[in-house]
Amino acid sequence: MKTQIIPNRISLANIPTPIQKISFEGKSFYLKRDDFTGLETSGNKIRKLEYLLYQAKKEKADYVFTCGGDQSNHARATAFAAAFLGLKSKLFLWGKNSSNSDGNLFLDKIVGSELRFLSKKEFAISNEIMEEEKISFEKKGKKVFLIPEGGSSPLGIWGYIHAVEEMQRQNVFKQCNSILTASGSGGTTAGLLIGSLLINQNLKIIAVNVLYTKDEIRNKILSLAEQTIKDYRLPIKLDENRLEILEGYSQEGYKHISDDKLSLIKKFASKTGIIFDPAYTGKAFKAYHDNFLSGKMSKTLFIHTGGLYGVFSKRKKYLLNYREQR
Ligand SMILES: Cc1ncc(COP(=O)(O)O)c(C=O)c1O
Repeated sequence: MKTQIIPNRISLANIPTPIQKISFEGKSFYLKRDDFTGLETSGNKIRKLEYLLYQAKKEKADYVFTCGGDQSNHARATAFAAAFLGLKSKLFLWGKNSSNSDGNLFLDKIVGSELRFLSKKEFAISNEIMEEEKISFEKKGKKVFLIPEGGSSPLGIWGYIHAVEEMQRQNVFKQCNSILTASGSGGTTAGLLIGSLLINQNLKIIAVNVLYTKDEIRNKILSLAEQTIKDYRLPIKLDENRLEILEGYSQEGYKHISDDKLSLIKKFASKTGIIFDPAYTGKAFKAYHDNFLSGKMSKTLFIHTGGLYGVFSKRKKYLLNYREQR
């Protein structure tokens, strides 16, 4: 039998991240602080980039290309991690440029990343667009390493396979039998799913879909997981029942946040000192709050996947109803 392959990674993230016991509205739960993975590179994406950028360096790339929304945390983290490693970056962003850009887009500019803006229609074929530009860069003698949306490739998702081992070492699965995360491109969820099968822990992985429909994200997660099992010859069989998609928490759309979610985010911040972002963690936390924050101690671990800079792109909404205290 062929043995499994474990890819190499380059150390970029501050890990292990802590798991904190949080009390809110008289109930308690465990929170994995992946928003602490780093400052400019904060959040879940840096775990994937440890594997992807190891490969980019190995292939002696000059440029890293990736794509995402104009407030993409993944794109920003890629641009900063690339700069840290002496690589150039080009980001293909769904949205419009603006002279007073904020949040992640502001930081993309500060770090000197090359930017190309795409319409929604173009974004649907962003991989093809990146491939075309890769060819034209390579004609000019520049070697390009291409990272798909969210860093969600069989190599990238090792970041969350590794994170599950980290959580096991932190002994949290004695108290928790499930993990909940926001799911955008699906890689974080796929990594959690495979990681839990590899450590033979009977965990349920709950994904709150914020970008794709329930069926689309389920297919993306499962096919990514299948491909990873195949590519790395992992000695596990995919158990689809371990995956649950909790839908209905992004009806306002990926780039928006509803008022009820925003008031929960603000209430949570004022009671705990922890802030959630508008695109991912704020939506996932609403789902968690409504479905799993019950009883004295929740058995579901919530992963704070970061996204802090996204808050600034929605500053007006976050400040709505703010009253100065005297
Ligand atoms: C803050 C944050 N949380 C969660 C996610 C979802 O991760 P994934 O794309 O791996 O599903 C992302 C990125 O998409 C993110 O930026």
